[in-house]
Amino acid sequence: MLVVANFKMNGNKNFFLKLNETYEKLKIKGTNVVLCPPFVYLSNLNIKNKNVCLGAQDISIVGNNKSTGQIGAYMLKEFNVKYCIIGHSERRAIGETGEMIAKKVKSACENKIIPIICVGEATKQDKSSAVKNQVKSALKYLQPGSKIIFAYEPVWAIGSGQVPTIKHINNKIKTIKAEANALGFSPKILYGGSVNDNNFLQLKTAEIDGFLVGGLSLDTNKFCKLIMGV
Ligand code: 13P
Repeated sequence: MLVVANFKMNGNKNFFLKLNETYEKLKIKGTNVVLCPPFVYLSNLNIKNKNVCLGAQDISIVGNNKSTGQIGAYMLKEFNVKYCIIGHSERRAIGETGEMIAKKVKSACENKIIPIICVGEATKQDKSSAVKNQVKSALKYLQPGSKIIFAYEPVWAIGSGQVPTIKHINNKIKTIKAEANALGFSPKILYGGSVNDNNFLQLKTAEIDGFLVGGLSLDTNKFCKLIMGV
């Protein structure tokens, strides 16, 4: 299993420094953990545990020196970032377009950073092909065969305490897989949205390769319980 922590805009220097100790002591078996702090705290995480590595929450599209305020892939590499969340619904909500996401995915892959591409429908009732379209659009500039991960995150499940049924998750996983396979990719697929220490064992019965966790990652004890239990 792959368990990814998206800390979003949370935590402070002290919080992230403390994680070093916690995760170094953790004897993890069979699960890989990716911690994605805000950019400014990447350098505070220096965890010596072969099962734990670093991810970022976003990446810049343009790769030149006229990009005020942006963080490029090559900079992330210097901090040992191995993964990058791209196209999270909270970024789509502030104007990130499918075109921008496709360019970010390309930039990540060109720099050997594995993109974790977030897709998901907006409402529980949504029967449209939004997820399929998001998958297709994100892969537009990518060489078939590139190493990528999708995170199925229904927007309505994020931070709401509501989770889809296993059947619902499996249907969406099937859609993501079919579209990606048709375009020449074999991604791992994670589930994200209100994953907690009480529901992860049930959610794990879906056809997923792991979790993308938000809120629970802020409670280190509970998050470690999940890591050790999946
Ligand atoms: P929650 O786990 O807080 O619902 O957030 C999910 C998420 O957005 C992870 O990227």
